[in-house]
Amino acid sequence: MSLPFPDDFAFGVATSAYQIEGAVDVDGRCPSVWDHFCTVPGAVRDGHDGSIACDHYGRLAEDVDLIAGLGVDAYRFSTAWPRIVTAPGHIEERGLAFYDRLVDALLERGVAPWLTLFHWDLPLWLHHRGGWLDRSIADHFAEYTEAVVGRLGDRVKHWITFNEPQCVFGLGHVRGVHAPGLRLDMATVSRAIHHGLLAHGRAVSVIRDRVPDAKVGWAPVAFVDYPVRPEARGVAAAATFRLPQGDEWPFNNTWFTDPVGLGQYPEGADPNLWRGLPAGWERDLETIGAPLDLWGLNIYRGRPVDVGPDGELVLVSRVPGHGETLMGWSVDPECLYWGPRFFCERYGKPVAITENGLASMDWVHHDGTIPDLGRVDYLVRHLHALRRAIADGAEVLGYFQWSLMDNFEWELGYAKRFGLVHVDFETLERTPKESYARYAALCHSRGATLPEDVAPLR
Ligand code: FCB
Repeated sequence: MSLPFPDDFAFGVATSAYQIEGAVDVDGRCPSVWDHFCTVPGAVRDGHDGSIACDHYGRLAEDVDLIAGLGVDAYRFSTAWPRIVTAPGHIEERGLAFYDRLVDALLERGVAPWLTLFHWDLPLWLHHRGGWLDRSIADHFAEYTEAVVGRLGDRVKHWITFNEPQCVFGLGHVRGVHAPGLRLDMATVSRAIHHGLLAHGRAVSVIRDRVPDAKVGWAPVAFVDYPVRPEARGVAAAATFRLPQGDEWPFNNTWFTDPVGLGQYPEGADPNLWRGLPAGWERDLETIGAPLDLWGLNIYRGRPVDVGPDGELVLVSRVPGHGETLMGWSVDPECLYWGPRFFCERYGKPVAITENGLASMDWVHHDGTIPDLGRVDYLVRHLHALRRAIADGAEVLGYFQWSLMDNFEWELGYAKRFGLVHVDFETLERTPKESYARYAALCHSRGATLPEDVAPLR
């Protein structure tokens, strides 16, 4: 008899505003840093941009039908800050009205909205005022949150403040490959990160004040080092929460997640990170570390590790030909077993997998089908691992497959298809892939169609 998922476990699917909405100059929306970044020659593959994307803005009803057809319990989407605060002090009613319609349409079909406030589309006017480098961004984020919560808080009960700060700062402010395309030194980025965390904390308190029954969380990337044998569990947990290191420094958990989860930055981190913190940073920690109800974890892959004879960390090399997605990301279902456990243990809060999925080779076949069996297998393996984590004590509230439909994959344009639904970017026609039907069966059966055992990945 297979282990069931808990009754209140949310099977879900996720998207974000800039990646699907299009309609960038409709209903008073102002430009975002991404609209601008897409105009920089060479910044985005093939010069693509999100101006049309999936035209979700114009096809709301059709897309909600697709969501409902999956039988999911929940839909994670983001509201676009540039639709809502379009100029200093100006709240755009038409932007709010769009999300109002979305939320009602979801609720009518029994799908719970999980709303993300910031999934990377910063209004360009705010960037021109210093963006994340200026402390006032936290006030602006609180004002934006007020507007969204005031309008939707009566119906939206799951709130995620910030998506993947590691990518916003690491890709957008260190490497310059995401908007706003900056390459700044470590100390300067440390200041920006602190403002990002403060903005998160301010939003949490706005939501708490206005929606007493809200479940509030955020959605960092969870970098997971997982043990290849039980003896390596300790080094794997330590490596998962290692300090920022080398050129890869922004791509760590601890510098971002400890202030939020433990109310303190990790001791021993690079002095430049400490030096960059703005004056009075200590006084912000209470706001930043305000308790959350849930931790969103975006997990796509992990890193296998072992313990050496002297208790040291050993990175395990993968066998030649190990499964890899079209992003070049290795397939590591064990990250959905260990990731939730490690995060539950360190921060003492329930988690939800707010993103997990893959880009695969999904074109419409000659007979009209899209047999994306790699995605089906990925889904099965990852949910299987997650179910084991739950059985072994991790408190997991839900799972959101990334993504509902193929969409604008940031600097890679439309080249990578992550959807359960195929989108023809010329006609905007939506065609459910094989994985859509299989995930629907899984959701409808609440996981009962998952096999008992899965063979190891080869
Ligand atoms: C995550 C992002 C999401 C999407 C997936 C593939 O890093 O949060 O918007 O691009 O990767």
